Amino acid sequence: MPGLTIGDEIPNLEVETTHGSFKLHDYIDTFVVLFSHPGDFTPVCTTELGMMAAYADKFSERGVKLLGLSCDDVESHKAWIKDIEAYNKGHKVGYPIIADPDRKLIKLLNMVDPDEKDSAGNNVPSRALHIVAADKKIKLSFLYPASTGRNMDEVIRVLDSLKLAAKHKIATPVNWKQGEAVVISPSVSTDEAKKQFPQGFNTVDLPSGKDYLRLVTDV
Ligand code: BEZ
Repeated sequence: MPGLTIGDEIPNLEVETTHGSFKLHDYIDTFVVLFSHPGDFTPVCTTELGMMAAYADKFSERGVKLLGLSCDDVESHKAWIKDIEAYNKGHKVGYPIIADPDRKLIKLLNMVDPDEKDSAGNNVPSRALHIVAADKKIKLSFLYPASTGRNMDEVIRVLDSLKLAAKHKIATPVNWKQGEAVVISPSVSTDEAKKQFPQGFNTVDLPSGKDYLRLVTDV
């Protein structure tokens, strides 16, 4: 069975979290970053969850909510949070962390690492991260192995790109950062582009003579 991926609706699962139980769809009323971790009291995960806590303002100023998941129970999560906050100089973990002690949710959410096993031989979650929009659909997914910690600056960067592309018919080029030029989507004709981007745009001269690379600023 192919796993859940971009374009798919996130299943409306009932989840037990450090902030009580709820249905996923009830939580997703804006962009939500749902990110999984191989397990509680593991080193890389401690640094990742801590960085998410440290970046809380960056996410909230973008109207984005966080939702972690780790394959242990709520009591274990609550004990682990004390370590995370201590390691990260007191930044509070203000977002809920889902418990998945039976490893049922990670399968339904396509978050399993096929190679990494715990000491009992069970598959553990990969470092999966789904960005889900208010329409409950997955707009972006990362799938990293347990051995590689994620870059939370990249998470912020892709959120900025997703939010801009949801508002305008644009796409963001390589290594783009907020405030830099974006490209006009190939689906927009030149006549349409003139209407949609009255500030003007720069069509890059290319050997093919084709006019597909159109840069626009101040979007
Ligand atoms: C970690 O979080 O450090 C980790 C967890 C499972 C496998 C490898 C690393």
